Amino acid sequence: VTQTQAQKAPKAPTLPDAQTVTSVKHYTDRLFAFRVTRPASLRFRSGEFVMLGLMQTDEKTGKEKPLLRAYSIASPSWDEELEFYSIKVQDGPLTSRLQHIEPGDQIILRPKPVGTLVHDALLPGKRLWFFATGTGIAPFASLLRDPQTYEDYEEIILTHTCREVGELDYGRELIENIRSDEMLAELIGEGFHEKLKYYPTTTREESAKMGRITDLLRAGDVYGDLGIEPIRPETDRAMICGNLAFNLELKAMLEEMGLEEGANSDPKQYVVEKAFLD
Ligand code: A2P
Repeated sequence: VTQTQAQKAPKAPTLPDAQTVTSVKHYTDRLFAFRVTRPASLRFRSGEFVMLGLMQTDEKTGKEKPLLRAYSIASPSWDEELEFYSIKVQDGPLTSRLQHIEPGDQIILRPKPVGTLVHDALLPGKRLWFFATGTGIAPFASLLRDPQTYEDYEEIILTHTCREVGELDYGRELIENIRSDEMLAELIGEGFHEKLKYYPTTTREESAKMGRITDLLRAGDVYGDLGIEPIRPETDRAMICGNLAFNLELKAMLEEMGLEEGANSDPKQYVVEKAFLD
């Protein structure tokens, strides 16, 4: 290619709503996290999600079009970048490709955050429960780094249930980071150490605590292990994010305990959102 040809060559088209990948970390053969640049105009509430994806060629028309899925923003709203936590599905239309992104690559991100796992959808309370399975921990990774979480509640409990031990790494790292990072401590406020409780469990591989969180609540293990009182509608608020069966079962359990489902326009005692599956 001569100098003139290079100058005349059309510039690579800039994708609509493109953001640049800044880092990628693989946790297991099924899970990875990545960070991207944040659009200057993007404001969001911790716990919300955006539509994110890659361009793909339409088989019929041969045209390029975006393939997007809902992804919870895992980073807090004060962060310069955006963080996401994703599964890898080998034949998944998006994640079969997304799992190969590297720093410098572009992804598409629609800057229109929405979602129900927000503080605004809950009435004031004393304890806040974050119930997650698998990648459902993502919105809580945002909320756990938001100062408002610690201002509004006396106690915050994160439960995370996964099949295998390695799938707990992202959450474990997050909690360790929150507990040891001084800058983060300063940002989210003094005294959060005592407020934050972490309860990881596995269901298919041996670990310190085994079992589904639903069963461990029924049996009373959770309360006994953490040395806390059972859930009551007067004091407790909850956010649920995981696979569909888990969401439904836990929702029914909370309803039985007297908690009601809230929304942005009608705050109540708990809220639910389905974790993304490719
Ligand atoms: P289990 O291994 O007993 O199915 P998945 O990877 O399939 O999304 O599951 C993530 C975690 O959620 C697994 O530990 C799984 O337990 C658990 N899980 C699945 N369904 C339910 C449910 N109805 N209630 C509680 N936990 C559930």
